[in-house]
Amino acid sequence: MRVELLQSRIDLLAAEQGHGSWWDSWYLQHMQAVARFAAMIAERRGLDAELATMIGLLHDIHSLLTGNTEKHAKHGSELARKILTEMELASEEEKEIICTAIRYHSKKQSLHDEYSELAKDADVLSHYYHDGMCPAIEKDRERLEALNREFELSEILANLPHKTTHDAT
Ligand SMILES: [Fe+2]
Repeated sequence: MRVELLQSRIDLLAAEQGHGSWWDSWYLQHMQAVARFAAMIAERRGLDAELATMIGLLHDIHSLLTGNTEKHAKHGSELARKILTEMELASEEEKEIICTAIRYHSKKQSLHDEYSELAKDADVLSHYYHDGMCPAIEKDRERLEALNREFELSEILANLPHKTTHDAT
């Protein structure tokens, strides 16, 4: 139920403060896709799928509502805390988990706590499967390869651009 409440609030905020239909619909779709991947990953890893869904739905909230992607993870984590607090939708402990994951989700080359890793993985999968505007697959190769091993998503490897190999001769 709180997932639906949260989605309604996000839809409302986007309608009030949105930055054009293309921007809004891209981000709303992307955040929902990340929420689905996050739930799937959570179930497999024994984490809370509802919290994972909420992380996905909120993770790019700052970009959606401001039209600005700069430092969106840090600002988004603060905005998510404000929304969750206003809505009384999560305990302090849950807010800490959700907002920490949002804060770190852009640092895909580093390792953080298990919910932050889940957020990064779900974001990478969404970029791979859905987002034509995110060509940065190559920098996420290692993360995608690890996800392929974990979830046996073999088509990912088949479709990745081949790494440049240097001929020793
Ligand atoms: Fe994202």
